[in-house]
Amino acid sequence: MRLASHGADVAINDLNAESAEKTAQEVRALGRKSLTLPADISKTSEIDRIFDVLVKNFNRLDILVNNAGISMYRPILECSEEDYDRHMDIMTKATFWCMKRAAPIMMKQKWGRIVNLGSYVAQLNCTTKNFGPYCAAKFGIIGLTQVAAQEFAPHILVNAVGPGDVATEMMEIEWVQEGEMRGMPAADVKELYRKRLLLEKFETPDDIAKVVAFLCSPLADQITGSHIVAGGGLPYTVK
Ligand SMILES: NC(=O)c1ccc[n+]([C@@H]2O[C@H](COP(=O)([O-])OP(=O)(O)OC[C@H]3O[C@@H](n4cnc5c(N)ncnc54)[C@H](O)[C@@H]3O)[C@@H](O)[C@H]2O)c1
Repeated sequence: MRLASHGADVAINDLNAESAEKTAQEVRALGRKSLTLPADISKTSEIDRIFDVLVKNFNRLDILVNNAGISMYRPILECSEEDYDRHMDIMTKATFWCMKRAAPIMMKQKWGRIVNLGSYVAQLNCTTKNFGPYCAAKFGIIGLTQVAAQEFAPHILVNAVGPGDVATEMMEIEWVQEGEMRGMPAADVKELYRKRLLLEKFETPDDIAKVVAFLCSPLADQITGSHIVAGGGLPYTVK
């Protein structure tokens, strides 16, 4: 929605076709073109399929945002191989494959912007225990961002945005899982998280989208290979 408000036509991938369509309708209400591309992006064949549809419909691609993600509050000793693979497939491998599909189109145009979703935990000494596969996947995304920035320069800028705590469905699920492990109601866990924030409030999805829009704007023409952490002050916390 933030990119559409700045004039972008938007193709929307999600597992959930219904919520993608709801967003597409909101984009169209702003007078922009929108297309939904429901697919499970943990599968490279699905990514290939939706890129073909995208190119057929839009005939160009200026901005790629690799946003899909999952998380799970679970100690390494309790994680299965499947838990690990799902994190890597949905986040790291999909980011890799979407960049691989997008870059040739952008190179032909001699212009492109790629923004990958990192996390404040994907910084040295900021990892959080009980998020092993998640931290591994997000560090992988930062590595890929830095390599792609070098390989795709000078016409394509590749950066990452690292949210801190955004009160989305992802965090609501984490608070339930952490509450179960610690014998606390999820609402109490949520309040503990809020209280530790320097700015005393959770970020909104649009707080993150504003940084994405900045990175795709002329204001950021000299930024590539960076991971901009928009964490409301995290990892610094109130004592
Ligand atoms: N919420 C936070 O505090 C936080 C913090 C750091 C980083 N992030 C990152 O921000 C991004 C967005 O997270 P969010 O908080 O909005 O989470 P969310 O769970 O609300 O949204 C994630 C979206 O990804 C989609 N998705 C999941 N698996 C998919 C798949 N296989 N194929 C296609 N779509 C799939 C889901 O349907 C959902 O719409 C993620 O990359 C996440 O890791 C979030």
